[in-house]
Amino acid sequence: MSSSNIKKKYSLKISEIKKHNQFYFEKNTPKISDKEYDDLKKEILDLEKEYPFLISKDSPSNSVGFRPSKNFLKSRHRVPMLSLANAFDKEGLVNFEKKIFNFLNLDKNINLEYSVEPKIDGISASLTYKSGKLVKGLSRGNGFEGELITENLKTISDIPKILRSKSCPDDIDIRGEVFIENKDFKIIKEKFANPRNAASGSLRQKDPQQTKKIPLKFIAYTFGFIKNFKFSKQSDFLEFLKQWGFKTSQFNKVISGIDNLQKNHSEFEKKRHDLDYDVDGLVYKINNFKLQERLGFVANAPRWAIAHKFSSDSSFSEIMDIDVQVGRTGALTPVAKIKPVNIGGVVVSNATLHNEDEIIRKDIRIGDTVKVERAGDVIPHVLSVDLTKRSDNSKKYSFPEKCPSCGSKVVKEFNLTTKKYDAVKRCPSEGFKCEKIAIEKIKHFVSKEALNIEGLGKKVVENFWEIKLIKLPQDIFNLDYKKIESLDGWGKLSVSNLKYAIEESKKITLEKFIFSLGIRHIGQENAKLLSKHFKTVKKFIDIDTKFNFNTLLNIDGMGETQVNSLKRFFSDKKNILVVNKLYQNLNVSNQEILQTGKFQNKTFMITGKLDGISRAEAKSLIEKNAGRFVSNVSKKLNYLIVGENPTSKKVNRAKELNINIIDQKKWQELLN
Ligand code: IVH
Repeated sequence: MSSSNIKKKYSLKISEIKKHNQFYFEKNTPKISDKEYDDLKKEILDLEKEYPFLISKDSPSNSVGFRPSKNFLKSRHRVPMLSLANAFDKEGLVNFEKKIFNFLNLDKNINLEYSVEPKIDGISASLTYKSGKLVKGLSRGNGFEGELITENLKTISDIPKILRSKSCPDDIDIRGEVFIENKDFKIIKEKFANPRNAASGSLRQKDPQQTKKIPLKFIAYTFGFIKNFKFSKQSDFLEFLKQWGFKTSQFNKVISGIDNLQKNHSEFEKKRHDLDYDVDGLVYKINNFKLQERLGFVANAPRWAIAHKFSSDSSFSEIMDIDVQVGRTGALTPVAKIKPVNIGGVVVSNATLHNEDEIIRKDIRIGDTVKVERAGDVIPHVLSVDLTKRSDNSKKYSFPEKCPSCGSKVVKEFNLTTKKYDAVKRCPSEGFKCEKIAIEKIKHFVSKEALNIEGLGKKVVENFWEIKLIKLPQDIFNLDYKKIESLDGWGKLSVSNLKYAIEESKKITLEKFIFSLGIRHIGQENAKLLSKHFKTVKKFIDIDTKFNFNTLLNIDGMGETQVNSLKRFFSDKKNILVVNKLYQNLNVSNQEILQTGKFQNKTFMITGKLDGISRAEAKSLIEKNAGRFVSNVSKKLNYLIVGENPTSKKVNRAKELNINIIDQKKWQELLN
C-alpha cells in the first residue's frame, strides 16, 4: 500500500471511531457493539504499530475519552444518594423556608441557619473509608445502586487514600463532586460535549490508567452512611472534611435569612464565570443536623435542602414549526422546533411552549423570531416574540382539537383543588389505547425510578415500538433477542447486557410496581401510601370495578383526585390485562412491614392543632415507630389524638365507635 493510501485508511478509521465516540458519549445511543468497537480500536492500534508515523492526536493510544466500560460491577449505596429540589427565585426560596417552618412548627421570628455551598456541575461519587482507609468508591448510579469505580477514583489526587486525622469515624461514606477544570477540558474537548460528560467519561474508563491521564478534581460536601455520628452542624462537618485531607469549596458559607441568601446568590452569580469550572447554582442546607433529621425526606429529595439555580442564558432563533407532543398522562405539549442555536454552550433546537394558553397569551406563531431561555438542566422554553421581525403574512397558530396520535377529541379537565379548568389540553383516552400515550407509559415503566432497566432508554423504546417489538409493557419480558441482535447498533454483548438488565428488573417492591404503572396522579409518594395500605401485591391486583374506592380516602395523603384516577384506571379492561400480565412476569415483593416500633399495628388520627409540633411531623413520628396515620374515623382506628379546637363531629364519632381518645400529652407518653 502506498503511504498516502495508508494515511487515508488510517484517517478514515480515526474519524469512524470519533463518530462512534460521539454516539456513545454524547447521544448515549451506541451504533456498534462493544466488540465491534474494540475491533476498530485494535485495527487502529495495529496500523500505528506498523506505521508509527501515522499516530494522530486523536488516536486511542494517545488520549483518554475512549469508550468507557458499561460493565462495571454494581453495588448498593448503604444510604441512598438523593437529588435536590430546585428554586429559581425568591418565591421558590420563601416557599422552601415556609414548608420548613410549618413542618417544624417553628416560631416565625427564629432565624434558620443555612450552610451555603456552590453546586458544582460534575459527577457525584461516594467513597467508603473504613478505619480511615479508602476501601470502596461508587458512582451515583440510580441513587440506590452505583457502579464500583474504586480504582478509577483512586487516581484522583484530591481524593485521600488514607484519612489524615485520628478523629475520623471508623466507617463513613464521604460524598462529593468529581469535575474537570475548563483549562483541562480544552485539551480533550473534541471528544466530549461538555466538561460534565468529560468527567463522567473519564471516570468510567475500563482502565484506571486512562482515568489517571485526565486531571480530575474532587470537592467533598456530605456523607452517606456514618458510624458514631458526632457533629452537630453541616458547617462543622465541612471543617472536619478539611482536617481529614479533603478539599472543600472555598466559597462555603453560613447564612441566615432569605434576603441574605439572595444577596449572596447575586454576588456569586456575577463572579461564577471567573471560576475555571461550571457551577450551576448554590445549595442551601439547614445547618443543624438535628433539624435535618426531624425534617427528613419527601420522595427522593430532602426537605432540608434546596438548589438555588443561577439564572439562565438566552438567545434568539426562528420557529420553523410547532410540534404537538402527547405525554404519558395524555397532556398535549406544544414544542417549538427552532433553528439550532447555541445557548450558553449547548445547542438547542427544541423549546417548549408549555400549553395552548401560553401560545395564545404570547401570540406565538410559526415563522416568528423568539427569545429562547435555557437554565441548567431545565428544558429550554420560549420567553417572548420579537414582533418587529414578524412577517406580514404570518397567521395565528391554531391548536389541534384532536389528539395528533389517536384522533380523540381533546379535553380540558376541571381541577378539583383549584376549582378551575386546566390550561393543558389532553387526549382523554385511558391507558394504552392511544399509541403515543402507550409509548410514554412504557418509557416510564422502564425508567430509573420504576423498573430501572439499563440499556432500554427512551430512544431504544421508541425504536422497539416502531418495529413492533414492544406494544405493551409486558412485551419487554418476551423480547425477540435474535431480532434485536440483528438490528443496527446491537451486538451479542449489548443484547446479553439487556437480557441481564431485564432479568434483574423483575424483582421489584410493591411500591415501585404501583409507581411503574404510570397511573395518573400516582407518583412515588402515593405509590408508597398505596403499597402500605394494600400490603400485598395480590390485594392490589385484585382491584376491580366492585372495589370500594372510597376506603382509599381514608389513607392520609390520598385525595379525591388520586382516588378518581385509580377508579378510572381500573375501569379499563386493557389496563387490568396489563396489570395481570405484569404480575405474572414480575416477582413483586409485598410491602415490608416495619416490624420494630412501639406503634406496630396501630392506627392514629389527629383532630385539632397540636402544641409545638406540626401535623406533618407528628405523622412522620408515628410512621417512624411503625404506626399508621389515617385521616378518617372508622372502626379500624386505634387512637384519636385530640388537640386544640378539635372537630366535634370526629370526636363524637370516635366515642360512638369506642375508640381510644387521647390528648397530646398522653400520645407523647406512649411515644417515649
Ligand atoms: S448534597 C441530599 N451538596 O447536586 C443531598 N449536592 O441534585 C444531595 N451537588 O447529585 C447532595 N454540589 O451531584 C450536595 N454542595 C453540594 C453539591 C451537591 C453539587 C450535586 C450532587 C447531587 C446533586 C443533587
